[in-house]
Amino acid sequence: MKFIVLTLFKEMFEPFVNTSIIKRTIQKDIVSIDVVDIREFTKDKHNRVDFPPYGGGSGMIISPEPLSAAIDYSIDKLKHEDKDIEIIYMSPRGRVLNYNISKELSVKDCNYIVICGHYEGIDERIIEEYNVKEISIGDYVLTGGELACQVLMDSIIRLLPGAITQESLDEESHTNGLLEYPQYTKPYDFRGRLVPEILISGHHKKIAEYRKQESIRITKKFRPDLLDEFDK
Ligand code: ADE
Repeated sequence: MKFIVLTLFKEMFEPFVNTSIIKRTIQKDIVSIDVVDIREFTKDKHNRVDFPPYGGGSGMIISPEPLSAAIDYSIDKLKHEDKDIEIIYMSPRGRVLNYNISKELSVKDCNYIVICGHYEGIDERIIEEYNVKEISIGDYVLTGGELACQVLMDSIIRLLPGAITQESLDEESHTNGLLEYPQYTKPYDFRGRLVPEILISGHHKKIAEYRKQESIRITKKFRPDLLDEFDK
């Protein structure tokens, strides 16, 4: 899977692509992430990429000209691949990301161009022109789409085959519609708080049943809305 990220702040992606599981997944060629500076595509003599909104109002809007040039360049780079290209814009008005959307995007035979806005956003005509899908990472507003884009890519990449073990994926929150059960490790006694006996019993069937019950208890406590879905 290939991602091309379009941004005005390339440096924000340095730690993301150079750390931990994402770094390893890139090294293993499971995914590639190219980060492209939208400013490189401006023809403005002062190197500007954003202008005030027509009709007035605060903030600046990224102009469709450098952005479309950056998108065309990215499409050109991806078009020789035998895969569809999907263009995503990180935006607080988009479809709100959840596990199912990440899973859906991870299994699609697709490469992705992800646009990160800054300031007040991008010109609406880009969304129409390129049939752009908008994704939000939650009902709050960030100063730009860069962090949101990293959240989106992280949630997709970790689901790609070979990124992390299938066992870790099977057991984590949201995979089966429930939140994950509590986990314990050494030492057995931490300030008088002991690890539940069942977990050191070696009785795998009973441990699995205990964990299921704990998952249900935790989900009831923190996210009862998920249980309604689970029961359906
Ligand atoms: N850009 C600004 N706020 C955002 C959000 N909540 N989700 C995605 N992109 C954004």
